[in-house]
Amino acid sequence: MTKQTSRLPPIDETRAALIEGHGARITPLEPIGAQVSGLDLTARDAPPPEVVAALEYEMALRGFLVFKNETELSPEDFLRASCLFGGRELHSTHGVHPQTPGGNPHIFRLSNDERHGIPDVGPQWHNDGSFLPATFSHSGYHIIRPAENGGGTHFAHQGLAYQALPQDLKERWQRLSSVNSASGVVHPLVHEHPLTGQKCIWLHLGMTGAVLEKLPDRDGFRLLHADELKELCHAYNDILNAGLTDGYAVAFEYSENDCVFIDNLAVAHRASPEAHMPVAQQGLRIMHRSTVKGVQDLAPGFDLPQHVAIDGPNPVGEGVWQGGGVGFRWDDGIRMRN
Ligand SMILES: [Fe+2]
Repeated sequence: MTKQTSRLPPIDETRAALIEGHGARITPLEPIGAQVSGLDLTARDAPPPEVVAALEYEMALRGFLVFKNETELSPEDFLRASCLFGGRELHSTHGVHPQTPGGNPHIFRLSNDERHGIPDVGPQWHNDGSFLPATFSHSGYHIIRPAENGGGTHFAHQGLAYQALPQDLKERWQRLSSVNSASGVVHPLVHEHPLTGQKCIWLHLGMTGAVLEKLPDRDGFRLLHADELKELCHAYNDILNAGLTDGYAVAFEYSENDCVFIDNLAVAHRASPEAHMPVAQQGLRIMHRSTVKGVQDLAPGFDLPQHVAIDGPNPVGEGVWQGGGVGFRWDDGIRMRN
C-alpha cells in the first residue's frame, strides 16, 4: 500500500499540549481522523473544559477521534463520554434491540446477526439524524465485539470532498438543498461547519426525497428531475468514494475496546460491505451507537423553509418529489436502508 500524504493540517501544538497536560495523547491517523490514548473514559469526572474543547475542535477538523481504551467501557461510560461533545445530551430516535444492556433507550445496538443486534443498517453514505432540522452533532460507535475477519465503518471527510469537487460543481451544489424523505426537513447540500467554517458537502444517499435548485439567474427554485437527481447522487457517491484512494476517506476497522466519536457535520459514513456479511464468513460483529443532540439547525440558504410537506402534493412543479421510505432510488442495483 502506498502511504498517503495527508490533506489535513498537523494537529495543533497548543491543543496537543492541553491534551497531554491531562495525561492523554492525540496522534493523527492517516489520511483523516486522530487517535486518543491515555484518557480514561471510565472516570466519572469529565476532563477539564479546555481539554474537551481541544478534542472537539480536532474532531471537527479531522472528522473523527478513535479513543483507545485500556479496559472495556460499560454502556454508561460510553454514553457519558458521548455527552462531552456537541449538544452535550443524548438524542435517541432509534429502535431498541432486545439484547441491548438494560434496555437502555440511548443505545442503538447493531450486529450482523439479528439475534444480537439490528442488522443491515446504513449501507450508503449518510450523516446520522438527517431527518432532524439540527441533525445530531456527533455520533459514537463503541465496538462490543469486532468481527474477526473485518467489518468496520467507512468515514469520508466532507470538507476535503468539497475541495476535491470540480469548480462547476462547487458553484452548482451551493445552490442545491435536499429534502429528507421521512420528515420533509430541508438541508443545504453545502454548509459551513459551525466550528471550523470549512465548506462541507452533505446529502443522505438513503433518505432523500427531493432536491431543490435555486435558479442561478433569477429568483425562485426548481426541482431536480429524476435523471438529474440520479446524476447528483452518483456524483456525491463517487466523490466520497474517491476519498478512499485520494486521501480524504478511510475504511476503518475497530480493535477491541475502541470507541469512536465522529463530528457528524464534518464526516459522512457508511457501514463497510463486510459489516453486513454473514457471521459464518466474517465472525460476529456487535456495536453500540450513540447520538448527540445537535447544537443548531442545519438551515438551508436562500430563505428556504427548514421543513416542507414532502408527503403532500408537489408544490414546486415538475421533478422528483417522493416522501417516505428510502426516498428516491438513485441506483436499482444497490442496498438502501437507513
Ligand atoms: Fe449512520
